[in-house]
Amino acid sequence: MMNIVLTGFMGTGKTAVGRELARLLSMRLVDIDSEIEAERDMKITDIFENYGEPYFRDLETRMIVRFAQEKNVIISTGGGAVLRDENMAALRTNGIVFCLYAAPETILLRTGRSDDRPLLNVEDPLAKIRELLGRRMPFYEKAGVMIDTEEKTPLQVAEEIAAIVRCKK
Ligand code: S3P
Repeated sequence: MMNIVLTGFMGTGKTAVGRELARLLSMRLVDIDSEIEAERDMKITDIFENYGEPYFRDLETRMIVRFAQEKNVIISTGGGAVLRDENMAALRTNGIVFCLYAAPETILLRTGRSDDRPLLNVEDPLAKIRELLGRRMPFYEKAGVMIDTEEKTPLQVAEEIAAIVRCKK
């Protein structure tokens, strides 16, 4: 079985959908951000604060390349993973890539409850979401199969993805 890779902006539900998919398909879920936090024993926010974003991006690439070599896993990536071709090339070798999306207002609602996203820890997070989304959209659109998550539960999104994966087998 190929890996199932979940990409998409922050707050599009990658982790929640990944959990449902793992349950539905009896596959292991690897969350790249959680793996980085466990390896460094540090929260992502603290890594950004202490070492800066470029350092985090290198850790992210290293972790992605490592897990992309496995088979039969669900890989949930951080929202910026699509920005490096190297990440996407590695993820595509053994995997089918999906890109989850939602409107900026929905993303704000879904991310609003936590302060563990350093890039959105700003005075006007909605403006920041719009700016980042605008800049990144070309990368998301070419990342993989686009999945609309608006007004759907993580389980509904997971079922949609599972159906596509079954067709491709
Ligand atoms: C980031 C998204 C975050 C995390 C980091 C940077 C981004 O992951 O990797 O804060 O650049 O979009 P989630 O998409 O899981 O929130």
